[in-house]
Amino acid sequence: MMERTEPQTSSGVVGTASEEPLLQVNNLRLYFRTTKGVVQAVDDVSFVLGRRRSLTILGESGCGKTSLARALLRLLPRNVHTFSGEIVLEGVDLMKMNDEWFRKEIRWRKISYVPQASMNAMNPVLRVGYQIAEPLILHQRASREEAYKRAEEVARFVGLPVDFLNRYAFELSGGMRQRAIIAMALITNPRLILLDEPTSALDVLTQANIMNSLKHIKRVFDVTYILITHDIATSSELADEVLVMYAGHLVEHSPAEVFYKSPSHPYAQKLMASVPTLREDKALEFIPGRPPSLINPPKGCRFAPRCPKRFDKCDQEPPLFALDGGRVVKCWLAR
Ligand SMILES: Nc1ncnc2c1ncn2[C@@H]1O[C@H](COP(=O)(O)OP(=O)(O)OP(=O)(O)O)[C@@H](O)[C@H]1O
Ligand code: SF4
Ligand SMILES: [Mg+2]
Repeated sequence: MMERTEPQTSSGVVGTASEEPLLQVNNLRLYFRTTKGVVQAVDDVSFVLGRRRSLTILGESGCGKTSLARALLRLLPRNVHTFSGEIVLEGVDLMKMNDEWFRKEIRWRKISYVPQASMNAMNPVLRVGYQIAEPLILHQRASREEAYKRAEEVARFVGLPVDFLNRYAFELSGGMRQRAIIAMALITNPRLILLDEPTSALDVLTQANIMNSLKHIKRVFDVTYILITHDIATSSELADEVLVMYAGHLVEHSPAEVFYKSPSHPYAQKLMASVPTLREDKALEFIPGRPPSLINPPKGCRFAPRCPKRFDKCDQEPPLFALDGGRVVKCWLAR
């Protein structure tokens, strides 16, 4: 066990040791300027992700999950105050690229995105097939014929019947619209797909079906997922690794098999204890209080005001501790 205070370069939870990781994020910060002060939405987040790994990001509402995804894609609003750190994809530091290069070479080509609530944002006047083919036409200058052919291929892959490509979005069920959005993210053959709550508005059977399709896609394509979700139970189907965010900080990053059995950070433990299980007479826990404001968050450990295990030391901010088994935990108890 060692204390890690230097910029993190490896969490020890990536694929094979010999393979270069797909993504390394070092000391990433994304702050927003508001009239009330600066919101520290993503604050000093570092992690490493291996190829063909699925990383699930968990955390309560407002903890910075979508902001982290937007930082990785450089989809920044106008009121950015700070955007700094390193985002290294296949050995290349994306932060050193100018915006035009990033737009041309990275967004869609290498990293694609299924934004939160995107299935409700499909264009109502364009046919679904065109919307799936569009990223290929716009970002890779493919001909319409080529792009439509590929749209049919990916539609089959995600379980969207090919005749649905002639329909409009309002003629599709929620599950089918979500499949169309996933097909759109897949069509450019990206290395990394960020999915922000892709199944949150769907019934449980449709959720399970979509998770199965994502698993199938991962087996066939050389693709890595970052999946943001509130649905801890369903996400466990897909996750190889779990990253927990709290109040803009990464508080735990662990291999899925150890995380779902015994999460290490007190916040992660509380999150897991709040998941209902069928036919088990367990009292569901909840976490009293709310996450802090990200404008002037608490000085020491940000979870301290709600943590049942806090002690004197917690007045100071804990570093990330790397534990056996590839875990990284931001809590003094992990020292
Ligand atoms: N453009 C912005 N300007 C100011 N504050 C913002 C902006 N975008 C996000 N925030 C704030 O940043 C914090 C993190 O928001 P974010 O959307 O990343 O949370 P989240 O974890 O994705 O939440 P949810 O689970 O509800 O989607 C919140 O306090 C949010 O209000
Ligand atoms: S550092 Fe202290 S307050 Fe924070 S999670 Fe650990 S025990 Fe709780
Ligand atoms: Mg979000």
